[in-house]
Amino acid sequence: MNFSFVSGDATRASGELLVIPLFEGELADTAPTSLATADSALEGRLRGAATQEGFKAKTDQAFLMHTHGRAGAERVLLLGLGNRARFHPEVLRLAAGRAAKTAQRLKVGSAAFVLPATDAAANAVRAVVEGLGLGVYRFDKYKSAAREEKNPAKLDKVALVLPDGVEKSRELEDALALAKRVADATNWARDLVNEPPNVVTPTALAEAARQAAKEGGLQVTIGGRRDIEKLNMGMFLGVTAGSIEEPRLIHVVYTPKNARDAKRPPLALVGKAITFDSGGLSLKPTEGMVEMKTDMAGSAAVLGAMKVIAALKPPFPVHAFIGACENMPSGTAYKPGDILTSRLGKTVEITNTDAEGRLVLGDILTWACEHRPSAVIDLATLTGACVIALGNYIVGAFGEHDATVNEVLQSARTAGEEMWRLPVSELQKDALRSEVADMKNSGERWGGSINAALFLKEFVGETPWVHLDIAGPSNSPKERGYLSKGGTGAGLRTLVEWVRLRAATPDDYEATTPPTPRAAATKAAAKGAKSARKAAKGA
Ligand code: BES
Ligand code: MN
Ligand code: ZN
Repeated sequence: MNFSFVSGDATRASGELLVIPLFEGELADTAPTSLATADSALEGRLRGAATQEGFKAKTDQAFLMHTHGRAGAERVLLLGLGNRARFHPEVLRLAAGRAAKTAQRLKVGSAAFVLPATDAAANAVRAVVEGLGLGVYRFDKYKSAAREEKNPAKLDKVALVLPDGVEKSRELEDALALAKRVADATNWARDLVNEPPNVVTPTALAEAARQAAKEGGLQVTIGGRRDIEKLNMGMFLGVTAGSIEEPRLIHVVYTPKNARDAKRPPLALVGKAITFDSGGLSLKPTEGMVEMKTDMAGSAAVLGAMKVIAALKPPFPVHAFIGACENMPSGTAYKPGDILTSRLGKTVEITNTDAEGRLVLGDILTWACEHRPSAVIDLATLTGACVIALGNYIVGAFGEHDATVNEVLQSARTAGEEMWRLPVSELQKDALRSEVADMKNSGERWGGSINAALFLKEFVGETPWVHLDIAGPSNSPKERGYLSKGGTGAGLRTLVEWVRLRAATPDDYEATTPPTPRAAATKAAAKGAKSARKAAKGA
């Protein structure tokens, strides 16, 4: 999509569709200039008709009208932004997404979009450009009718009409460039999620990562089963055992050019990448299984974020760590009752092969923490329990390092992604106690999301860690704002905002060089041995 900034009379801006977002009350009295000029060009019929049709600029409202040659555009679309006092750029992002869908439905190729006068014009630009870019997304490549369509709908030219008193600036140009990148990367991630599991195999996912890294000038290393064996990732090997698809170990690295910046501790991003989760021998029921091609959404968001980070060029390294495989039942599959030995050395009794995500993530988190990151975050479609708790639009955020969790929650708020903190409470600890191994991989149903987080926690040692359970929001059950049914790219924008937040004050995160989980485990074991010796001596 091509964007340009224009100033002045919105009715003269070129575009087949003129979009004017409005706050409640603006139709009746305090009309912005754009609405007033459009209305007078239409001899008062715009406000008249919109009022008559009950348009009050509420957040779910829109009003479309023909101009019959009385304005530059053939049609005007009024968009509701709701109450001005409750405004957040996300409201505008969702509205722009709806406008994009209307434009696609009308087969409009060009539009003029009036930027509402809000506190920060750059944030409005981000919201509108992201909303439009995400809103035009469709996944119909396997529909013969869509493939054969002669002139498919394509909104590809948008003039952004600046509010009165706002000039085009470097800041706005930067916001536009970033928003375009974010929308493109998110749509790229949505494609990976929406592609069927016979296309996005672990190997295909690794190739997508390689391609993305190459385009962004990032370093990429891809390993196979041999490499996973060499790293003693016994839990990862257990999960992949039932599949004939080769597992893939993916490591993407952004390193700043500046030598001093390159020496800062990296930020580590980890994404769940089960390209199909059948449940394994603890097979899922049919209804639950069809959606399980989306069980790699965490890694899609992480890789999409890396594409944006490559352009953002923060003053510290950023690493992405991904373990990709399928979870399948077969004669070679791991079994309930098996005991696996993790990279960290802890042993795990398998009580449910459908609790596979935490197994792969546990080994990958250990590996990520060995790179001594200042913090590690994982994005995972981890538990159905999180969907029960928070629904399809809210991400569950876990972690015990308050400062880091708060950074992520703040970034989510800026990004317009809804997240809610859930506890990593030791009260649930008994759920994972095993009679025969250090722990088991699944416990009671109650508090299922907390149990999963408690399991992951065992593998990060003292590294500040945040776990995002995106099982609900990774996939939208319906069309909504800029979302369409299917993959959403959930978490990607939060990761980008988090990197931007840290990039503003990179020195604040330098001091943290926590011990790696293995060092911490060794220390704990030594301490245990010492107290055992002491106890023996005392006896
Ligand atoms: N990938 C699923 C979680 C999931 C469920 C994601 C629904 C998206 C929508 C995960 O691997 C899983 O199967 N979790 C189990 C864990 C249980 C066996 C302890 C679950 O949530 O039922
Ligand atoms: Mn599962
Ligand atoms: Zn899964």
